[in-house]
Amino acid sequence: MGLFGGKKQVNLVGLDIGSSSVKAVELKKTKDGFELLSVGLEPLSPETVVDGAIIDALSVSAAIDRIYAGQKVKNKNVATSVSGHSVIIKKINLPMLEEDELYDQVYADAGQYIPFDIADVSLDYQVLEPSPAGDTQEVLLVAVKRDKINNYQSALIGRTLAMVDVDAFALQNTYETNYQPNPDETAALLNIGASVMNINIVRGGVPLFTRDVSVGGNQYTDALQKELELTFEDAENLKRGQALAGISDEQKAAVLRSVSEILVLEIQKTFDFFRATAGAAAIGHIYAAGGAARTPGLLDMLKEEFQMPVDELDPFRRVTYNPAKFSDEYVKEIAPRLAVCVGLGLRSFDEA
Ligand SMILES: Nc1ncnc2c1ncn2[C@@H]1O[C@H](COP(=O)(O)OP(=O)(O)OP(=O)(O)O)[C@@H](O)[C@H]1O
Ligand SMILES: [Mg+2]
Repeated sequence: MGLFGGKKQVNLVGLDIGSSSVKAVELKKTKDGFELLSVGLEPLSPETVVDGAIIDALSVSAAIDRIYAGQKVKNKNVATSVSGHSVIIKKINLPMLEEDELYDQVYADAGQYIPFDIADVSLDYQVLEPSPAGDTQEVLLVAVKRDKINNYQSALIGRTLAMVDVDAFALQNTYETNYQPNPDETAALLNIGASVMNINIVRGGVPLFTRDVSVGGNQYTDALQKELELTFEDAENLKRGQALAGISDEQKAAVLRSVSEILVLEIQKTFDFFRATAGAAAIGHIYAAGGAARTPGLLDMLKEEFQMPVDELDPFRRVTYNPAKFSDEYVKEIAPRLAVCVGLGLRSFDEA
């Protein structure tokens, strides 16, 4: 689903502005899949993006410039994504209408589903599926506050915001392209970043339930800092597997485990809520992306807790790259952090 200016026939650079880094991906369609043309990841300092809002647009813009320069990217049309409180996602049931009438109906009804003034949001929608009886259709309604879009636009100096997506849907796009699920397969997709975890439970290509939770990699780093009296850098390095004098593996594992338990509980609550509201579909698989999916012990804990297969979501499962241009080691190292970004880059090839 391409939102807010989608169905573009132009090629788009996927640009994911996260709280810990900016990522960009440019793809090309090939005979049997996709190929990576450029990829970059530039870290951001902690106060640059806070609670999903770009505080320091110039720093973000400079990070984007560095990626463009480093990868010699020429394309100025970007697709980016948002999440959190400024995004409202609702499923509504509408009569089976023709395209024009449906548009009018969605806009006429939207106000009753959206807790913001309709004048302050950008709206988009997609038809999901007709009801079993065939007399109504389920429509996914998405509203994003214009403030939020303007905020993102402010960091794109000299570039065109050709499409605004939602993190959870970009993640889903990456999953669909790379895993080609059967229509009856239900999976939970997680994107566990530095400050936010996006959860999207999907059946085949249909989003059933989405939720953003304010937990992520920063919580692990914070806990290591506090419990073991470390600097931010030392805590980050320790978390990513570097040994640190005076800190035992057991000490580290205990702190990481206590934070993983908090994440697992949030996922559990989401699954419980999903089961209570969405009825039939049983979740059969968990795919985890985002940098914090690499936290030692987290995926094993999910496996143990939910008794189902848990895998890291590989955004390059069906996306090839030239090993002479991008080292295998580098791509594998950053892969989970690129899941949303690849989904955005893939929007270039959405069918109109
Ligand atoms: N190997 C690793 N092990 C554990 N944690 C890691 C590893 N690599 C990265 N991280 C953590 O992942 C987080 C960054 O992931 P990601 O790039 O997906 O986040 P982001 O998109 O910047 O943040 P957000 O989407 O939450 O705003 C950081 O908290 C970082 O410490
Ligand atoms: Mg992110």
